[in-house]
Amino acid sequence: MKKTKISIIGLGFVGLSIAVTNAREGFETIGIDSNKAKLKNLQIGKADFFEPKISAYLKESIKKNKVSFTENLNQILKTDLTFITVGTPSTKDGKIDLTSLKKVVSDLYKILKNKPKNHLIIIKSTVVPTTTSKVVLPILKKLKRVGVVVNPEFLREGNAINDLFKPHLIVIGYDDEKHCKTLEKYYKQFYKKMPEVLRTNHTTAEMIKYSNNAFLATKISFINSIANICQQLPLVDVNTISYAIGKDPRIGSQFLQAGPGFGGSCLPKDLSALIKFTDKFHGLNNFFKAVQNVNKLQTSQVVQMLKSLKLFNSKKVIAILGLAFKKDTDDLREAVSVKLVKNLLKNQMNIRVHDPMALDNFRKIFKNKITYCSKIEDCIRGANCCIILTEWDVYKKLESKLLRKNMKEPNIIDARRILIPSKFNDFNFKAIGLGPS
Ligand code: UGA
Repeated sequence: MKKTKISIIGLGFVGLSIAVTNAREGFETIGIDSNKAKLKNLQIGKADFFEPKISAYLKESIKKNKVSFTENLNQILKTDLTFITVGTPSTKDGKIDLTSLKKVVSDLYKILKNKPKNHLIIIKSTVVPTTTSKVVLPILKKLKRVGVVVNPEFLREGNAINDLFKPHLIVIGYDDEKHCKTLEKYYKQFYKKMPEVLRTNHTTAEMIKYSNNAFLATKISFINSIANICQQLPLVDVNTISYAIGKDPRIGSQFLQAGPGFGGSCLPKDLSALIKFTDKFHGLNNFFKAVQNVNKLQTSQVVQMLKSLKLFNSKKVIAILGLAFKKDTDDLREAVSVKLVKNLLKNQMNIRVHDPMALDNFRKIFKNKITYCSKIEDCIRGANCCIILTEWDVYKKLESKLLRKNMKEPNIIDARRILIPSKFNDFNFKAIGLGPS
């Protein structure tokens, strides 16, 4: 069977992951983006962000001549399917910003009106419910040969390639069955074992994506709320509670890791867009506002711990281990580290930071206001306190001996709950969700 030719518009983290994975699997793939610097790097096999496996996949695809990168939208005419993966960021007041999506769809209209063959547009960008029916379709409605489906993406940063190969479900929102079948045909070529497909309408597919991310956010704010109570109770540890409740199959063990709050480019943005979109439904979004508020306040738990250790003072040396919003990425969008460092700098504290991947991105934000360390030892040397903000595997192996040897004072704040408290008996050991001993 002839393999489907695909194009992808928007080479951010989702778009590029899809592009290189398809190319490596032998699909002729055209990646399109308006950012010239990004394209130049991609053409020589360089991704502009860190994601496990992506660099190797990119290089392999280029070598096999299966992928090309261009800013020329007309190139979609060489393909059968176009995935739209442009960003849908937040406006200043938290609403969804559809500017890029509208522009791309309007450009596609002009290009596709002359295509004599069928073409399928797949909306992968996260869009608030009714965007496809009220914004996208009206622009394209005169094009008889063009179909539009909504096919939300559930992959995670740091695990993108694995998630692409093993989705828990494929959701396809459509208004004409033949469009749904076209996308299914492509997926049957892509997957050796076809995942479950849920067929629905455009708006339900859009709402599924928001519900999914809102539920994940809810689980995190829930466990963080429990963690904050545990902190007040002697000898109570939220990790034990997470383990116990996660064993109940009705609850499930994932996304019950207490921490300094969720960040990243998706959960905070999507929760905010859902809240703004539903404001018109008067009070129907109170629950989501609570989830958001818990998250906004969670960073202050770390500040409270510093205060309780009498370290929230100018001149104290604070070593921060972990800057990325989670492990296995260099992404700092909505990262707790950025909020915390801004706050500590206001108090003239002396900040040293370490991260296996996100150091360069952090430098772009804080320039010469703080010290950047490529070695853990350099970061903790002479520090009054060490705060673990990201759950990188390398920090899980931290030995009390190393900290003792290098730090000025034995204070640790484990905001990710990755250290075993009993190994740090000779430290002032504070942690999210760990009550006083
Ligand atoms: C999230 C969803 O998990 C993906 O399914 C979705 O496709 C993606 O958004 C998206 O909409 O594009 P991602 O932002 O990559 O993926 O990261 P998550 O793994 O969801 O983590 C988000 C934040 O929650 C991180 O700051 C993480 O540290 C935090 N988190 C996660 C916790 O604090 N506790 C947990 O138990 C899990």
